[in-house]
Amino acid sequence: MDLNVKIREYRPKDLEQFLKLVMELEAELAEKFKDVKIKSGLDNYRNRYLMPENKYKTFVALVEGKVVGYLMGFPSLGAPEVDNMYDILPVSSNWTPPEFFLQITFVSKSFRNQGISKKLHREIIEYARKQGYKEVYACIAKWNIPEIKVIQSLKFKLKDLGYRYRLTLKF
Ligand SMILES: CC(C)(COP(=O)(O)OP(=O)(O)OC[C@H]1O[C@@H](n2cnc3c(N)ncnc32)[C@H](O)[C@@H]1OP(=O)(O)O)[C@@H](O)C(=O)NCCC(=O)NCCS
Repeated sequence: MDLNVKIREYRPKDLEQFLKLVMELEAELAEKFKDVKIKSGLDNYRNRYLMPENKYKTFVALVEGKVVGYLMGFPSLGAPEVDNMYDILPVSSNWTPPEFFLQITFVSKSFRNQGISKKLHREIIEYARKQGYKEVYACIAKWNIPEIKVIQSLKFKLKDLGYRYRLTLKF
């Protein structure tokens, strides 16, 4: 049976449910990378990524009113080191960089393979297109087969960068 999935922008009232998904993602990463300690990013989500007025644009997927997935992106300056360390905010409406970067996506395990991530991607792509960006891109490690499949199914062009791919969708 088809799930009734609603996609919309993140709202501050989603915070607690959202952070539960982040914990799920972190537990999954810890399971995958046994030889490392992963410092939690919860504080960063709370104080940076999910702060209203910051550069991040976040969409959530809801099933029966519950947040079961998310996708976060931001306008990219084209320099990953600057993009990752700084939050660059436009001070004039004339500024739209060409690229919109897809940073991270997650769907709760029991809701996977039902098209939720694809729906989230469609929504953010439409947002980026309307905002006037020239392209949307993501960088994905080669081990992350599910995410590569999702992005490829949306017709992104794939470029081999060694241990990862750059996937681009031009408008
Ligand atoms: C990657 C992830 C978000 C996919 O979410 P999802 O809602 O299950 O994906 P969808 O159901 O929208 O799948 C869309 C497409 O990808 C394919 N796909 C999804 N998961 C797949 C898998 N594990 N193996 C092969 N193909 C897969 C689907 O078949 C579908 O292709 P189609 O449109 O050609 O039929 C989810 O698996 C996840 O959260 N993984 C862990 C977190 C993670 O690695 N995040 C990325 C870090 S940046």
